[in-house]
Amino acid sequence: MTRITIIQGHPDPVGGHLLHALAGAYAMAAQAAGHEVRVLEVARLRVPPLLTAEDFASEAIAPDIRAAQESLAWAQHWVVFYPLWLGCMPAGLKAFWEQALRPGFVREGGQDITTGRLRLKGRTAHVVVSMGMPGFIYRWFYGAPGVKALERNILGFIGVKPRRRTIIGGVGQMTAERAKAWLARMEAAGRAAG
Ligand SMILES: Cc1cc2nc3c(=O)[nH]c(=O)nc-3n(C[C@H](O)[C@H](O)[C@H](O)COP(=O)(O)O)c2cc1C
Repeated sequence: MTRITIIQGHPDPVGGHLLHALAGAYAMAAQAAGHEVRVLEVARLRVPPLLTAEDFASEAIAPDIRAAQESLAWAQHWVVFYPLWLGCMPAGLKAFWEQALRPGFVREGGQDITTGRLRLKGRTAHVVVSMGMPGFIYRWFYGAPGVKALERNILGFIGVKPRRRTIIGGVGQMTAERAKAWLARMEAAGRAAG
């Protein structure tokens, strides 16, 4: 049994997008297989913009962010869903990481982001990104820079190991059949807590 926290980074709080269906398929299959699942809908949280380095280091944390930190720490595996916006993640999701991954949370005994034991070390992550362009263009022509930034500079930096990556391209032209195939892949990942 694995404790999983899904971080839904689609900025539309109403839901109903492919990424919400994919996250739902993952969660249902994971729960049916005996895993425990929590979901953080970033668009429904109150995430104030982080404006200064002093705010980053401070212990003052908004209530929604504190609750989200609890679910991040609880989980053994994070599954992050987001649409590619202007080549990287939507601003709301970036603001969430800036608020949640504060030094006092990710490092033991430190207000410094670079020193102290990493509290979240040992956790793993699966990053699921949808985009308008074909997936192979993003991977091979651009080199997947936004996804690498999340995997290396955000997750890897705090000790969370990116274990799996799913790039879903051509979302605008997606047929019902292809969408069904992606849902099946997410179900398989959920069952395996992958
Ligand atoms: C503001 C905005 C910026 C976007 N930037 C990109 C981009 O840089 N590259 C790309 O391939 N698709 C881009 N897209 C398309 C989205 O990635 C695509 O619509 C999304 O993955 C599918 O989710 P949806 O249900 O919100 O449409 C952008 C869409 C929006 C609204």
